[in-house]
Amino acid sequence: MFITIDGPDGVGKTTISKALVDLLNEKSPTPKAVYTSEPTDSELGQKIRAILKSSKSEEIAKLAELFVEDRANHVQDILSWLKNGKTVVCDRYKYSTIVYQQLQGENIEKLIAMNSPFREPDFAFVLNVENVDTLLAHISKRGLERDLFETSLTLRDAIKLYNDIKNHYENAIYIDAEQEPDRILADILRHLGNDYHR
Ligand code: TYD
Repeated sequence: MFITIDGPDGVGKTTISKALVDLLNEKSPTPKAVYTSEPTDSELGQKIRAILKSSKSEEIAKLAELFVEDRANHVQDILSWLKNGKTVVCDRYKYSTIVYQQLQGENIEKLIAMNSPFREPDFAFVLNVENVDTLLAHISKRGLERDLFETSLTLRDAIKLYNDIKNHYENAIYIDAEQEPDRILADILRHLGNDYHR
């Protein structure tokens, strides 16, 4: 089973993804859920993170290609985990490219086409909020240096573009992330239904 968890910065994706993996593994006599994320920890993923901090425009212009290349490698790993019977919980996936690289001015049709070879998730969750303040509160609590997209204006646009994802990917499942983490997890489990026990 391939599950993706996407949404704007500060929405709580990483906490929820890891909690979901723990929950799935608690239920199973042989732990088979794996947590993974994008950008990946590979050399390319690290290069991407450095660009997100550098704000050099000629580098930023290459981000769509770099994210897709990182994803192409990552999908190979994901497919082999799935083949080995694992449940994969992926923290950010192609929906992040559609939203964030669109925010950078890339054409949405081009972004969709670039991502079309990649396997569709069985469950594509989008965690979203109405209020940008919820995101800002989480981000400032983390206290880390902010990257390119973690400004108030960009976050507001990211919320809108995530809401627009359903017009392009009808499998997107929206989860209200203004709720407490336990409620968010409960919503996700409700959607997984019987698959939760697999
Ligand atoms: P993030 O999940 O915030 O990683 P971390 O918590 O480890 O810093 O991702 C880093 C940034 O990358 C985030 O602002 C969104 C951006 N991003 C894209 O612009 N396009 C993509 O395709 C992906 C996967 C992420």
